[in-house]
Amino acid sequence: MLAGKHESRMETAKLASWMKQSKYTVVLTGAGMSTESGIPDFRSENGWWRRIDPRSVATKEVLYADYTLFHEFYSMRIRGLTCCKPHKGYYILAQWEKNNIINSIATQNVDRFHQIAGNHKVYELHGCIRTIRCDSCGTAHAMGDFLDGSGCTGCGGRLRPDVVLFGEALPRDTWEKAMTDIERAELVIVIGTSLQVYPVNQLPFMTRGRIAYINNEIGGDSHQFDLFIKGKAGDILCKLDEIITS
Ligand code: OAD
Repeated sequence: MLAGKHESRMETAKLASWMKQSKYTVVLTGAGMSTESGIPDFRSENGWWRRIDPRSVATKEVLYADYTLFHEFYSMRIRGLTCCKPHKGYYILAQWEKNNIINSIATQNVDRFHQIAGNHKVYELHGCIRTIRCDSCGTAHAMGDFLDGSGCTGCGGRLRPDVVLFGEALPRDTWEKAMTDIERAELVIVIGTSLQVYPVNQLPFMTRGRIAYINNEIGGDSHQFDLFIKGKAGDILCKLDEIITS
């Protein structure tokens, strides 16, 4: 236990020194970044996909075959956001962007917490659950229209959150921008993701720079990373910030 803590302190110091050297750093986040804000991730013990089969709620087929279930699942997730807010780690990332310590964030998260905390250059690779559109004609609608079960006011189509459902393509422009940034990065910091979902799990390895991975458990092959820091995202970000700003 003591050895583990000691090791994590050394690794954190090493990452801080890499951050100081790097002229272009990109952060990639996943659901583990938001668990300390009270939002469940997908594959941990309390994760969504441990309770519900994603194919039964998060596909285009379900949107049409069982709108009641689709609507219930996404309404629950949207309502769940109202009592949560970004934790300290989010505000550290926002400050780092302001101070040119990091250049951009690519995220799989749909909660928009990075922007709420103050980051501007954010690539939402899996969309955003706070914005609603008609699946048929694309017209934007208010969140309330979705929550109260309305159809599209223009064409009568089904309303849905602007998230990427299983089987749908990622937003191309966003993906390309994230990929370009990661390719040119001297350092990529991956935070709170199991790296199980394609194609985002390929992104970190497109860089020619270093790759650091912060997670409370090792996901994938540890040899793929130049550095692994085991721990809670918020805690590690606070520690890194202390070192960088001291
Ligand atoms: P996962 O739930 O697959 O992985 C989250 C990872 O974060 C796990 O390895 C956890 O151990 C770790 N973790 C949890 N809390 C943490 C904390 N406080 N600090 C550090 N690590 C922590 O979530 P993602 O990898 O983001 O896609 O999942 C990827 C995609 O799968 C999601 O965007 C979603 C889902 O299906 C869509 O809905 C399209």
